Amino acid sequence: MTNIAPIFHRPDLAKRLACQILVAGVGSAAGSGVFLAAPRRTGKSTFAREDLRPALEAEGALVVYADLWANPTADPGLVISNAIRASLVGNEGVILRLAKRAGMSKVSFGNLSFDLDRVGLGKDVSLTDALVALSDETGQMIVLLIDEAQHAITSDAGIAALFALKAARDELNSSQHHGLRIVCTGSNRDKLAMLRNSKDQAFFGAPLVNFPLLGRDYIDWFCKEIRLPFQLDPEQVWPLFIEAGYRPELLGSAADQFRFEFDVDATVVPQKFAEEVRRLAEELNEVQRGVIHSLTPIQSAVLRVMAATDQQYAPFEAATLEKYRKAMQLAGQPPEEVKADVPGVQQALIALQDKKLIWRAARGVYAVEERNIIDLLKADGLLEGLA
Ligand SMILES: Nc1ncnc2c1ncn2[C@@H]1O[C@H](COP(=O)(O)OP(=O)(O)OP(=O)(O)O)[C@@H](O)[C@H]1O
Ligand SMILES: [Mg+2]
Repeated sequence: MTNIAPIFHRPDLAKRLACQILVAGVGSAAGSGVFLAAPRRTGKSTFAREDLRPALEAEGALVVYADLWANPTADPGLVISNAIRASLVGNEGVILRLAKRAGMSKVSFGNLSFDLDRVGLGKDVSLTDALVALSDETGQMIVLLIDEAQHAITSDAGIAALFALKAARDELNSSQHHGLRIVCTGSNRDKLAMLRNSKDQAFFGAPLVNFPLLGRDYIDWFCKEIRLPFQLDPEQVWPLFIEAGYRPELLGSAADQFRFEFDVDATVVPQKFAEEVRRLAEELNEVQRGVIHSLTPIQSAVLRVMAATDQQYAPFEAATLEKYRKAMQLAGQPPEEVKADVPGVQQALIALQDKKLIWRAARGVYAVEERNIIDLLKADGLLEGLA
């Protein structure tokens, strides 16, 4: 037995998806990239790394993987550059091409000393050059898999990286090279949509599809592999999994609660297990509610108006300021304290970002951090009268 948590693989799904990504159909926008969205903690990264990547490789592609969330303090632009740089390491032919490109005319395999730090945004060897060299040298289609891609638009370097990728894509998808596909995953459709909606964005028109959630076959596997002192019935666990928002961890943590209960009565197990999953889901919601309830009146008003207006949200327009006031009144704020002005709203936006309730793109566009926050506000009736 190993102590690494086992993974349920979805090779067929991965293969189908890989083929769709690699194919260049007539009039298809797949060349612009593909966006895959699914809620938090539903297994996106696991699938991308463990199933999709190997499937793309099996189809002959060279995969470059960049996780923009692995280190939240690193600039997303740098993370993308580093991932591309890492894919060059050890490929002497590529490095030779790049060295020549950088004007080092006399390099040959014997005395190769090309510093990869020279590759990147604003460096003497651009990301496009690097990807072109990699494509030409390997003869492979390159797939850049960017996890939590929405972070790219939170920094200027990230936006610059996206434009560099757009240039690289246009170059590599021309007939002289072997193609570049960009696959972005993320947990928030609204944020991902910002990457592709406006014409000045790098991925205009790229398809945004729902990331396939774990299905019934996962639950069969889970019940079989969980190794509890008693048996779980997939028929009962499957509806519970749906209720828990398709999040494997909730089932796993609930199971852990029973792992050492050797003399539990088998007839009460299904009921107890269900209660535990619900309790854990509720516990997560309560933590989030606690954060929401500790907001100041203006912070709460800004969050609620943003959640209620969704994509049309314009933080500082007169009509929106009026809505904040309405939100404060609805929350029972005494009339003399109902105030909303631009500096106050600016401060509230910063505080909400710090509390990880909202997210800001580099160009000042905002979105509520997670769908779940909007659902909670709605469930508690806090969005009524604000749409
Ligand atoms: N196929 C799978 N088999 C077993 N466990 C899985 C599988 N997919 C996901 N999990 C478990 O679910 C949890 C969340 O998975 P993962 O990090 O891949 O999700 P995510 O959607 O990328 O999450 P986030 O929104 O935080 O990025 C992890 O603990 C992981 O081990
Ligand atoms: Mg992830």
